[in-house]
Amino acid sequence: MDQFALRDGVLHAEDIPLPRIAEEVGTPVYVYSRAMLERHAQEFRDGLKDVPRKHLAFAIKSNPNLGVLRVLARQGYGADVVSGGELERALAAGMAPEDIVFSGVGKTRAELAQGLDRGIGQFNIEHEPEGIALAEIALAKEMTARAVLRVNPDVDAGTHAKISTGKADNKFGVGIDVAPAMFDRLAALPGLQMRGIAVHIGSQLTSLDPLESAFTRVGRLVADLRAGGHNITHVDLGGGLGVSYKPGDNPPSMADYGAMVARVTKDWDVTLMFEPGRVIAGNTGVLLTEVLWVKPGATNPFVIVDAAMNDLARPALYDAYHDFVAVQPSGEKMTASIVGPVCETGDTFARDRVTDKVEAGDLAVFRTAGAYGATMASTYNSRSLVPEVLVDGDRYIKVADRIAASTIMAAERVPDWID
Ligand code: LLP
Repeated sequence: MDQFALRDGVLHAEDIPLPRIAEEVGTPVYVYSRAMLERHAQEFRDGLKDVPRKHLAFAIKSNPNLGVLRVLARQGYGADVVSGGELERALAAGMAPEDIVFSGVGKTRAELAQGLDRGIGQFNIEHEPEGIALAEIALAKEMTARAVLRVNPDVDAGTHAKISTGKADNKFGVGIDVAPAMFDRLAALPGLQMRGIAVHIGSQLTSLDPLESAFTRVGRLVADLRAGGHNITHVDLGGGLGVSYKPGDNPPSMADYGAMVARVTKDWDVTLMFEPGRVIAGNTGVLLTEVLWVKPGATNPFVIVDAAMNDLARPALYDAYHDFVAVQPSGEKMTASIVGPVCETGDTFARDRVTDKVEAGDLAVFRTAGAYGATMASTYNSRSLVPEVLVDGDRYIKVADRIAASTIMAAERVPDWID
């Protein structure tokens, strides 16, 4: 059930009217629903009911808020992390070290060592030198690192170029053609226990076909590696499942995804690992904002809101669509461009969109902002870092403070050698 719904003409998050949050916390602010997070976590698991052995690792990059992570930890989720910072967050949120997978194309030696010291479950190695370095570090610590090799299956994920990762010319993984020999060499290194393969072809995937092609290729590789004498016990299938951003979007359901995975992998006899991000968090959050001004434009008016590209970067970065709806809709519509206060034209959330009619002082939300929203925020234009709220029924709590420009400024200094 959508927990962001109108009650008596006012948009609520679960049982909390959004104007109350705007008044008490201020705007812009991200608002998440605990019930929706839990439901998505459960639905994803249910979708995989025919997969006998599985490990679920929430992709922390999509929403690293500690409150959100704690909800998912309680749902039995581990974490997919891509930096030392994310690793510490996962642990701080109560995720067990062995449930943490370390992905990422540019892990530093210090981060590899940190992962070992923390006792994480698995390293996803992106290329041979990284594997060699991990083996050396592990050996020096008299430890063994559990690892899988990430392959690049060279499939077109059919998503935005900036979030595609599985084409041969993307920076991720190693080609399937070179993987078996590389796997042989890595598996021979003391300090490394090579136990499987990882794959992730991109994000916001709206068709299962490219995933199925990629998984099928990985299945063949697993058979080859076994024929070569390797003990393959784990395959990490990454994340990538898309969500609905606008009316009419029809991404595959979690159940359809799970059924496809179960069918393609039924003879693999491994523990399957998953790294979902957006599909868990995307629709569980909104960015609540206040309309500052409505300014006439050459064609349509500009609705200038107090959120900007620094708070929600996706439209500026990927031309992403986020539904914009009034918190207290009058029923009337208007055609407008929705923009933020930042001083560049890229700070545009929507161009010439038919939307709820709003006026200065009205509240509105950008929907589907729970994933890749707050996590990508910055303080560009010396704006504050946007706060976050988690709603649970008729209560809510600020799970991240607004960080004022003055706090950021306090971490800077003027050299005393400039007079
Ligand atoms: N695993 C790996 C190795 C990844 O690189 C990613 C996302 C995920 C899992 C999670 O993918 P998801 O299930 O969320 O699709 N900032 C962009 C999205 C970047 C995705 C990066 N990798 C956006 O706002 O659309």
